[in-house]
Amino acid sequence: MLTAGTQTSPLPDAPITQGTTDQWPEIVLSVSPFLDGVQQELAGQVASFDAEIAPYAEYALANQGKQLRATLTGLAANCVGGWNDSVIKAAVIIEMVHLATLLHDDIMDGTEIRRNRPTLARNWDNTTAVLVGDCLFANALRLAAEFPTTDVCRAVSTATRTVCSGEIIQSHRRGNLQLSQKEYLDTLRMKTGELFAIACELGGSLAGGDPRETRALRAYGMALGTAYQVYDDCLDLFGSEAEAGKSLGTDIASGKATLPVILLCEQADPDIAAQLGRMIDKWDAGQLNILRGWLSEFNTLEQSQSRLEALLAIARDALGELRESDHRDELEELTLFLAQQSAGLGVC
Ligand code: IPE
Ligand code: MG
Ligand code: MG
Repeated sequence: MLTAGTQTSPLPDAPITQGTTDQWPEIVLSVSPFLDGVQQELAGQVASFDAEIAPYAEYALANQGKQLRATLTGLAANCVGGWNDSVIKAAVIIEMVHLATLLHDDIMDGTEIRRNRPTLARNWDNTTAVLVGDCLFANALRLAAEFPTTDVCRAVSTATRTVCSGEIIQSHRRGNLQLSQKEYLDTLRMKTGELFAIACELGGSLAGGDPRETRALRAYGMALGTAYQVYDDCLDLFGSEAEAGKSLGTDIASGKATLPVILLCEQADPDIAAQLGRMIDKWDAGQLNILRGWLSEFNTLEQSQSRLEALLAIARDALGELRESDHRDELEELTLFLAQQSAGLGVC
């Protein structure tokens, strides 16, 4: 349960858990000056908020993880000619939209910990988190409006609408264990694939990529982002909170049927699906072990990993449209890195 107003001071709590974050591959070293620029710009944005709001914006914007979307924007730009200040700005905008969606998502999922510290809603209250999320969305569009044409603003607005629509669809399907794999994957494309796609697409177009290259980068981002969400959904069921640095088990607790659960319901005796349906009506964390037993009996992790790898193969295929370069290899290595992370799930 979220406890509103548990912490009224604008100063963040110390991290609650000290989990290890994933070992980020060396390939991103090539974009580290780019990521420093993104980080600097994001930090600079805090000062543009009203002084009373700035501490909340700072709390939200400082909560950077691997900056995966920004990394993709930089890598995509490098594939077609190299990043410039416009690419940095696009990455800042996309990161800001992403952080805004997380503020809202954490309320909906009842998540208490993200990136090893209390969520903004947990540290203050839901009202503050909703409105800070709104401020970040609005600020992202304010920045997008500074480009000389309306293209970036339109692209970011459209992508943001798609992400939020995906979250709404997912939330309406809570408690539905009859979800098809197609319905599930379509929602993943909307809520996660789209922002990865726009990150790659804008990185490519703002660095001077031609339409064919930009389309290929978009397709790569869409497939990689969808695979990433399959991984995240498996992590929620099979991962460890100490390593993930965030609350886990929240998907099933909030009635979300993710790929392993969909596979279980497709393959197990209908009695099991019926029993799970009754469990999620009155979920308590102790039931997670019962569910994990069923998931393992039907090899749902292994099957989900295969689906994820098929998506990564689509991402790699899309790269075939780009000219050969070290940077293209880096995008390919990212797919291998995600495959490796996925393979590590469920291994004690
Ligand atoms: C949310 O998906 C992705 C968004 C569009 C915000 P999840 O709910 O699975 O993300 P986590 O697990 O909270 O990070
Ligand atoms: Mg969530
Ligand atoms: Mg998740």
